[in-house]
Amino acid sequence: MRSRIAPMWDIARSATFAGRLHWNTMPGTFITFEGLDGSGKTTQIKRLAAWLEERGRNVVLTRNPGGTALGERIRGILLDSRTEAATGAITPKAELALMFADRAQSIAEIIKPALAEDKIVLCDRYTDSSEAYQGGGRELGSATILAAHKTICDGFQPSLTILLLPPLAASLARARRRNDRTTHHTGTDENRFEREGDTFYTRIYDAYKTIAAREPQRVVAIEDDASIDEIQKIIQAIVANRLDL
Ligand code: TYD
Repeated sequence: MRSRIAPMWDIARSATFAGRLHWNTMPGTFITFEGLDGSGKTTQIKRLAAWLEERGRNVVLTRNPGGTALGERIRGILLDSRTEAATGAITPKAELALMFADRAQSIAEIIKPALAEDKIVLCDRYTDSSEAYQGGGRELGSATILAAHKTICDGFQPSLTILLLPPLAASLARARRRNDRTTHHTGTDENRFEREGDTFYTRIYDAYKTIAAREPQRVVAIEDDASIDEIQKIIQAIVANRLDL
């Protein structure tokens, strides 16, 4: 236990320090969550939102793709494994363009207005997902994604990105269990990505590692496969330091 917690606190401390160099100029705070499917980030982001609200902070919780009316429609197209039965194969660049169409709308409609009102915006996935999934997974390469980000998002980046990167095997197992459950219970199908094989996810995992190494000021990677509670504590420590809570 002790050996796992100690490095976590080191992560929190170093992130605090470096992150001060990376604030964007809007009054609010923009924080994104990243990771493989099944990394537990959706649970963690919701718990962080509740924790911040308990401390009197104004929080806006959103996701990419999704959040806006247009984005939820795009999400339906992109994530449903039945889409391609109707449309034919979606090319990697078409997939990328749809992700950025969603993101442009999300920035204009949700993220920037909330930041202008001094809110904390927590976004479940952002451009790092495009770099990892379309750049790495679909092999479009990082340069294409970074160029699109510059053009379509004006290079707008979060101050802090929490990257949940537990060992690949554990993430894959969780994602598959969850998708089986979702399809079975609700009839909704969000597994066009989860259908992909292990080599696809290994490329995504590697791309995330590359992003974290390239941008240590912005991206804090948590690689432990610890309990939900333990990971939430370290996330809270990182965010508390950033926000001076
Ligand atoms: P989501 O339900 O948000 O993620 P998770 O499965 O981790 O809860 O699903 C979004 C899916 O879309 C996920 O498989 C990653 C993928 N995606 C991309 O491929 N590119 C992107 O730019 C984004 C934002 C998501």
